[in-house]
Amino acid sequence: MVQAIKWDQGVLSLLDQRVLPQEVKYITCTDYKQTAKAIKDMVVRGAPAIGISGGYGLALAASEAADKFGSGNDSPEILAAAEQFLREAASVLVSARPTAVNLPWAVERVLKKAVSALRHGGASGAAEVALAEARSIELEDIEVNRRIGVNGAALIKPGSNVMTHCNAGALATGGWGTALGVIRQAWSDNRVLMVYANETRPFLQGARLTAWELMQDGIPVTLLADSAAGYVMSLGRIDAVVVGADRIAANGDVANKIGTYTLACLCKLHNIPFYVAAPMSTFDLSLATGREIQIEERSETEILEFMGKPVAPAGARAFNPSFDITPAELISAIITENGTVFPPLDKNLASVVK
Ligand code: MRU
Repeated sequence: MVQAIKWDQGVLSLLDQRVLPQEVKYITCTDYKQTAKAIKDMVVRGAPAIGISGGYGLALAASEAADKFGSGNDSPEILAAAEQFLREAASVLVSARPTAVNLPWAVERVLKKAVSALRHGGASGAAEVALAEARSIELEDIEVNRRIGVNGAALIKPGSNVMTHCNAGALATGGWGTALGVIRQAWSDNRVLMVYANETRPFLQGARLTAWELMQDGIPVTLLADSAAGYVMSLGRIDAVVVGADRIAANGDVANKIGTYTLACLCKLHNIPFYVAAPMSTFDLSLATGREIQIEERSETEILEFMGKPVAPAGARAFNPSFDITPAELISAIITENGTVFPPLDKNLASVVK
């Protein structure tokens, strides 16, 4: 299975998702600033994958701190300077992309361990502890995806055509995937006839990444222009929609790739189940509703140009929100590693929160 994130001897290698499927190449990060830039530029993308990368980014920062402050002089001033360095690195990493909560969740998890190790054993010990925590986040994610897959596949009726949006697969996670984890598991259980992948303008995660990833595994996939989704549903060709998530509020509202809300509305009209598959690390219970979720706005150029060539008149303006909010009432179930939550989501989410 494709591996989007690799760590080897102090080097973080990220599969460059900007150039797939034409090119399969990795870029390397050896410090936290390079990692933050790779996340911002979408070399790596997808909520769990940017969380894992952010965790490794902080491990790189801890190793930089060990080089700068780990000479054996563990005076309070040196330790305070090292801690300040780690906190600044965490803030740079977290601000690389605002919508997916997995990024701050993972960075803060590594930061907490690193700062505690720093205070007790100095900068060198902190680097080791930070790396171990980043590695745990990655390994846990793969395991969590497998469990989401098993829980979600049970919802897919044998003989189903399943639609997905964006890429919530191995490329977007530590491996296996959330929405694509459900689809992979359902495929291997002989429940899936065809996966319909929406191309997902403007970054084309569906066309470039989901189609590629599924084809690598021999899972049948048909691409659709985003605007074809409603018509294909009206033909009775879609039995379920499964998508991932970037942040889920306490009432069950879901932020995910732009176009997700439109699909959920269409599902309601056509009486098609609309499932969200996400790990617990994607929940942000500090937010009462999706209205509080910050939606990333990306450059106008992503809309005005295609592969470096203009597709709009010179001087045209564009608005490019990268995510939208799907209200809880449009969601048939949220599939997590701890079980599946059915409506009313605001009341029932408690059953999976541990
Ligand atoms: O802008 P992206 O490609 O990072 O957006 C990704 C998505 O919206 C995914 O659906 C979501 O992060 C879930 S990935 C398991």
